[in-house]
Amino acid sequence: MIRRYAFGCPLQTGAVSLDLPKEQDGVPFLEVSRAEKAVTLSMALAKDDLIMGLGENVGPINRRGRRYQSWNSDEFNHTEDRQSLYASHNLLLVLCAAPFALYLDDPGRVTWDLGFTDADTMRIESENGDFDLYIITPEDDAFSAIDLCRQFRRLTGRSYIPPRWALGYIQSRWGYASEEDVKTVARCHREKHIPLDGICLDIDYMDAFRDFTVNKAAIPDLKGLCDRVKADGLHLIPIIDAGVKADENDPVYAEGLKNGYFCRKEDGSVFLAAVWPGLSAFPDFLREEVRTWFGEQYFAMLESGVDGFWNDMNEPALFYSPEGLEDAYGALAAMKGELKAHDASFKLIGAVNGIKNSMDDYRRFFHSMNGKTVRHDRVHNLYGAMMTKAAAEGMRRFAPDRRMLLFTRSSFIGTHRESGVWMGDNFSWWSHLALHLRMLPSLNMAGFIYCGADIGGFGADTEEELLLRWLQLGAFTPLMRNHSALHTREQEIYRFSNWRQMRDAVRVRYALLPFLYSEMMRAILQDGMLFRPLCFDYPLDPHAPTVEDQLMLGESCMIAPVLAPHAKGRYVYLPEDMLMVLFASDTQYTLSHLEKGHHWIDMPDGTFPLFIRRGKAAFLCRAEERSHLVNTDEMTVLGWDHDGEITWYEDDGITADVSLEKGLRHRTFPREA
Ligand code: GLC
Repeated sequence: MIRRYAFGCPLQTGAVSLDLPKEQDGVPFLEVSRAEKAVTLSMALAKDDLIMGLGENVGPINRRGRRYQSWNSDEFNHTEDRQSLYASHNLLLVLCAAPFALYLDDPGRVTWDLGFTDADTMRIESENGDFDLYIITPEDDAFSAIDLCRQFRRLTGRSYIPPRWALGYIQSRWGYASEEDVKTVARCHREKHIPLDGICLDIDYMDAFRDFTVNKAAIPDLKGLCDRVKADGLHLIPIIDAGVKADENDPVYAEGLKNGYFCRKEDGSVFLAAVWPGLSAFPDFLREEVRTWFGEQYFAMLESGVDGFWNDMNEPALFYSPEGLEDAYGALAAMKGELKAHDASFKLIGAVNGIKNSMDDYRRFFHSMNGKTVRHDRVHNLYGAMMTKAAAEGMRRFAPDRRMLLFTRSSFIGTHRESGVWMGDNFSWWSHLALHLRMLPSLNMAGFIYCGADIGGFGADTEEELLLRWLQLGAFTPLMRNHSALHTREQEIYRFSNWRQMRDAVRVRYALLPFLYSEMMRAILQDGMLFRPLCFDYPLDPHAPTVEDQLMLGESCMIAPVLAPHAKGRYVYLPEDMLMVLFASDTQYTLSHLEKGHHWIDMPDGTFPLFIRRGKAAFLCRAEERSHLVNTDEMTVLGWDHDGEITWYEDDGITADVSLEKGLRHRTFPREA
């Protein structure tokens, strides 16, 4: 059951797709208090209550004991103490004696104190004080956390469906600048028979980092390049940034300026701030006409044959504004000669660092929402979502019947209907491999099923073993993209001495691709989750809530990847009897029947496991070098005590109009011994 409670004058975010009447009674479970505009919701927590959700964030799956903030941030350092990343997914599951979920539909800053200040109290504060609060309670006595998430999805709409090829392996790097680079990546994967489906183009493909341009010197003919890679079964996936270079010779800027499409300052002038192309203007994506216009800018590349994009810098990231720069110079000048104390360098650094993504700047510009002028900070968390809506709607208008790939860095609830997400600028750290795993279920709770992190790590130099282990996790995530930053060690698989083991992890992915696609589609079409914490499936198991390094995958499986360096194996907890498939490659694997309980499992270097619940099954197909070549003509069914009846979902992978009924396939296999 879902109930809506309105506070103040809620801003229309478009996150919710059900129109529910406002409840007149008081909010259940939560105590409400007000201080000026801010509204605080609080609740006492019992010792063993679990708190889950909040989508994209660092920290454990059980979020209790920490403080978070909904404030979309361009955050390069995903260290443990971060309270916000690029997205705001204001969904919380409170798993207590009377379990419920809450969704706070508020595009401004929200602070989630989940037993941080006081271990026994949860306190949620909305700075705006204007929001709709949705309370979701179990539909029947047979409570399940999955049911709360399913109801949440009914409230907010079905998740984005990517094309099937988007489950193929994608190679990316900030620095691929030319047609030659693309060809080299494609050729080197081919030479070593490493499967591949997509190559991302980062900002380097543009002309001086200007949106919707192509550097003709490096890529003289985008259509020709698209045709050539398509003939090889590959897809190009260019990046688009939120800021439009403030250059009157730039047609997008000139048109946006003429039509008044950019965000403005209080004095009516266009707000400018620096991002990659230099000083840029920011389309007011909160207006429908601006979204329509921006969405149309994608058309030229779509006409060239591009069928996938990633949207970036859309929190929006602001390196600095001219005003912020002036303030910093002023502060530095005032400090000159005055700084003698031990904290001199901190003050200097603070004055300079403060110009990036500054609150002063976020308060400096305005949007127009349904004819009303709204200061940016009140609706900050919607900006990336609305940019992505612009792109998704544009792509739908361009090809209404076709699915295309889209993933974004910044998002809000509602974006899950339009696009996938990647987890932003992580590092080549083992802790970020673990973070990748932990973020999957919370993103799934919020409706983001097509998601994944930069495999190998974005910042810092990756290590061979780390990349291998990361690929072994990435083999199961819908978005499987290897991406790294400029100036870091190049991390394409073919550059490493143990490329064979890395390739074999990707080949396992391709052998599993029809199965994984089926599990993903069933999760999407049934408003379910692909990745779940163990305690969702085993609510009565006292050990399940403590497991933070294993996940349930789809209806039949569990994953437990190696997350530590030099590990020759790991402990795995089996909440029930399971068949372990330990892959060395797509064709070489061992099967072990393991009983419920704790196990030490050897997983030497090139190997990694998939666990299949007793009585259930998974299947392997023949791996190929491109996803469209992998088919279900022949399958190897893996299971223990399953009845040989296999039902899976399959479609052409590209048509937009899909349904579970049309896609379900069935085959009977001899019962295994
Ligand atoms: C941002 C993105 C990253 C990209 C870089 C250059 O940091 O998060 O993925 O490579 O910008 O465009």
